Amino acid sequence: MIRTTVSASREYEVITGSGLLSESGKIIRSVAPNAIKALIVTETNVAPLYLDKVKAAVQAEGFEVYEYIFEAGEESKNINSIAGMWGVMAKAGFTRTDLVIALGGGVTGDMAGFAAASFLRGIDVVQIPTSLLAMVDAAVGGKTGIDLPEGKNQVGAFWQPSVVIEDTDCLLTLSDEKFTEGMGEVLKYAFIMDLPLYEFLRENASRGIAIREDAWLKEKIVGMCVADKADVVSNDEHDNGRRQTLNFGHTVGHVIERDSGFSKLHGVCVAKGMGIIIDACEGAGTLAAEEAQKMRDLIKAYGLPVDDDITPEAAVSGAMNDKKKRGNTLSIIVVNKIGTSEIRKMSPEEFKSFLEGAKR
Ligand code: GLY
Repeated sequence: MIRTTVSASREYEVITGSGLLSESGKIIRSVAPNAIKALIVTETNVAPLYLDKVKAAVQAEGFEVYEYIFEAGEESKNINSIAGMWGVMAKAGFTRTDLVIALGGGVTGDMAGFAAASFLRGIDVVQIPTSLLAMVDAAVGGKTGIDLPEGKNQVGAFWQPSVVIEDTDCLLTLSDEKFTEGMGEVLKYAFIMDLPLYEFLRENASRGIAIREDAWLKEKIVGMCVADKADVVSNDEHDNGRRQTLNFGHTVGHVIERDSGFSKLHGVCVAKGMGIIIDACEGAGTLAAEEAQKMRDLIKAYGLPVDDDITPEAAVSGAMNDKKKRGNTLSIIVVNKIGTSEIRKMSPEEFKSFLEGAKR
């Protein structure tokens, strides 16, 4: 078991290891000694797998448990679902010392976190991520929110959890596709900030996504990513500086994701976006050809793509509509040496020439 501390506006632990769902009640009681009621928020794919286990563990600690189960998928990430959660809590008479438990992937964590951030002006939330993507990224760092018809994650709040419980056994029930997409975010940490993780992923590359069958290996990989995320969030909780480096591959990736009507998975689009930026850095002569090739090979080894047929024009105009844009300048994350990254401010014209110069 690995315990990682996040020191943001609140300090909390991320606990990563095998068999933790059964321990979840005890862990939650230790951070919420006075809570009486708990709302478990989950969705239709995760509920049949894990709801009973978590519910039993939480009830065993004396919590009065309520449930809110929504239809799995990004389409549910809207204000109606949040209003549903508020309604359950209001009817049950939740007070400021009660709490919400998010059990599921990124959509669940974002919505449960936002419901907790806004109910009674803020009650505690516990994150129990069940997907690789949520374990290494979404559940850590306090970004919560919902989508609007106009765009993803347009409304939300920074709301840090009181604890994050990551049971790596859950990774075994993910489809290959879902596990693979999570590897997109894992590879991102290796490239932007973590040379030992990069070396470790290279050593195990011949196994590809079969790494998830090894309990020790997956705990180590998830733990390394969580340590990276904790370090970044502890230094820049509100995304004004270093946290933006977590967007490596995301600027173009988001455009590809949006253009596909969200039929392409987020982590897959991030891998494509990273591949496109790697090509551009190589083309600009700031990233050595050999390093670029090593990065592309590693992305492919874990079953992810490194390119897309999006044009530089479409990438730039899509990026200009992104909520992460500040003014008319884009903050593009570049990697000129594996394990380090920098934020480069570019005008739309500069970004277009950067992409046009790509070596393919
Ligand atoms: N997923 C990127 C961040 O938490 O900032």
